[in-house]
Formats: sequence, structure tokens, C-alpha cells
Amino acid sequence: MDTSYKEKVKKILTAAVAAPSGDNSQPWRFVVHDNSIEFHYLPERDNPIFNYEKGGTLIAIGAALQNAELEARAQGYTPNAIFNEGGGSCVAVMRLTGGGNLNVIQGHMREAIFKRHTNRRAYEKIPLSREMRETILSPLISGSADPKLFLIESQEAMEEVSRALTTMEETALGNQTMHKLFFSSIFWSETRNRAGEQGLYIKTLELPPPVQALFWLLKYWHFARFLSSVGFPKFVARTNAQQNASASAFGMITAPQLRRVTYLETGKMLERVWLLVAAQGLSLQIVTGITFLARSIIHNPDTALLLSDEEQEHVRAAYAIIKRNIDEEYEPIIAFRIGTSSAPTEVTYRRAPEITFED
Ligand SMILES: Cc1cc2nc3c(=O)[nH]c(=O)nc-3n(C[C@H](O)[C@H](O)[C@H](O)COP(=O)(O)O)c2cc1C
Repeated sequence: MDTSYKEKVKKILTAAVAAPSGDNSQPWRFVVHDNSIEFHYLPERDNPIFNYEKGGTLIAIGAALQNAELEARAQGYTPNAIFNEGGGSCVAVMRLTGGGNLNVIQGHMREAIFKRHTNRRAYEKIPLSREMRETILSPLISGSADPKLFLIESQEAMEEVSRALTTMEETALGNQTMHKLFFSSIFWSETRNRAGEQGLYIKTLELPPPVQALFWLLKYWHFARFLSSVGFPKFVARTNAQQNASASAFGMITAPQLRRVTYLETGKMLERVWLLVAAQGLSLQIVTGITFLARSIIHNPDTALLLSDEEQEHVRAAYAIIKRNIDEEYEPIIAFRIGTSSAPTEVTYRRAPEITFED
């Protein structure tokens, strides 16, 4: 393998790992051959409760594939990704042949790969321009039938979906297991963030200073349980729902049936939309815990047992509301909000990609 090929592959994979992943889990490693790259997934890095069918991990790999494809084109290759539908850790192989380049939109998307960041600030209520809506829904970005992107823009529907989505906060602050899970993913150290560690750095949550202080106490279940008894989780969920509904739109990537390839395509589509809106100076935040939790409790009795009957009912009802606002025939895979905001206070870093060169 010559050095120039290795250098190009490193560029491609550095772009790949700039992709989003649940709690910045970075659930990937790569094996490089002459003219091809294997994408291996590491689902053990994602929490099983939020990873039914390894969906979260596969979405992250899909997003990484999308970035890699754009960077491969910039490096002069024509990438061709083949999904591995069987078992095994290698979920996709990207073949690289010569003669590739980027069209104008792909060029803008590639430039946004390292500028794309989760933005959890409040967004301004500025409607999407017609041009932006049409580009998001165009064949190049998200115009496929499966998975399919729904944009929710009417105020009434946004408020309803927003409240359903924040059932997640309500559950995370009121249920001991969910509470432990949520707080174990948050860290307070800037050094850990800069080192690209897995988890959520507190400053990226964009909490107002008094709430940040409260978070120190909230991580203790006794304190959270006391606040729960006086209705605090509902209050947080309502406040967050109001803030999220002030976005320009909710996006929902959906499919009638969920297979391994559906999750990978969902990740690719998510990343295309995100890069496109980032290139136009818009912000995006994934707000999807509830869709993952709902699928997990519907299909996995062990997860269902972690919640009281009342909590389960609440989560199922939220999922039903989301479905009603898209199409009952489609499962909502991942939800996000798009809008206008100032830049995030702090961004999340990555570890260098783990690459094995098979000379
Ligand atoms: C499958 C998946 C689920 C996610 N769920 C959420 C979520 O519910 N809320 C949220 O704020 N971010 C969510 N994220 C965003 C990640 O936390 C974020 O991508 C990661 O911390 C890296 O930060 P970055 O996007 O700024 O690069 C999710 C990302 C993925 C891929």
C-alpha cells in the first residue's frame, strides 16, 4: 500500500469519524485494503436500552459512510458502498475506484463536515425558506421512499410532537434506571471533551447557569426522586417542549419496516440533511430518545420491566402521537429539530479513527 493512498484514506476516515453518534459513542473501526475500506461497528459502545436492533449504532455508521463518501470524492475516488446484510461486525465495504469528483451541492456539504455540530440552544421561529425545504426534500438529499423524511412545520403539529418527544426528559428524571443512565453519560471535564471521550460534556447541553448548578445535585437519585414527587420532571418536559417547538421544523426519518440497511440509509440521510443545513448556517439537534426507548419497550420485555406500567403507557402514548403526526404506516426512526440560532457554546471532539491497514 503506498503512502499517498494511506494518507488519502486517513483523510477519508477523519471525515468519517466527524459524524454524529449517540452520546458521542463513536461506535466504529476500519480495516483498509487496496481499493476498499471495511466499516466495522462496535454496538457494545451504545447502551442496549436505546439501541434496539443496534439501530443507533447503525445510524452512526451510516452517517460516517456519508462523510467518507464525500471526502473520497474530494480525494478523486468514486466510492461505492455495499452493505453487508448478514451478521458479523463488518456492516459495509466502501470500494474506491478512480475518477470521482463532487458536484456543487456535494462540495458545500463536504465543507460542512467539520462545521456540523449539535446545537442544543433555543432556536428562533423563522420558517424554512421554500428553497431550503425543496432542497432538503430533493432526490439528492432525502427524496427517497424508504427511508422517508417527513418535515413537520405547522405550529399545532410541532407543539404536539415536541411534547411527545420530551416524554424522554420526564422519564429520565422520574425513573431510577433511566436517571442513572442519563447522568452516567454526562461529564464535567473540558479535558475529557478535548480528548474526544464518549459521553456528553455538560457545556454542550446549553443549560442556563442556575440549571447547570442544579444538575450537580440532580445526578443524585435521592434528590431527583424528591423533585420528582413535586412534579419537576413534568415541568422540565413542558419547558423543553416549548423551547423545541420554537424551531423552524421537525424532521422525522421513517420507514415502513426497519432492517439493517434501513438504519444505515437513515444515518446517511440524516447526515446529508445536517450537512446541507449546516452549510446554509442553520442549526440542528437530534431529539430522539423517546423513539428509541419506545421501540425497545415494545419489542424487548426486559426493557419494558425497567419502567412502571404507567411510565410504559406514557412512552407508548408518546410514540403513537408521533406516528399520528407522520403516517401510521411508518415507524419514526429518528427525530430532529432544525432552526436558526447562534453558534453552540462548546462543541464535541473525536478520538482519531482506529484504522488497520491490511498490507
Ligand atoms: C442515533 C443518535 C441518537 C442521538 N440522540 C440524541 C438525542 O436524543 N438528543 C441529543 O441532544 N443528541 C442526540 N444525538 C447527538 C449526539 O449526542 C451527538 O452527535 C454527539 O454527542 C456528537 O456531537 P456532535 O453532533 O456535535 O458532533 C444522537 C446522535 C445519534 C447518532
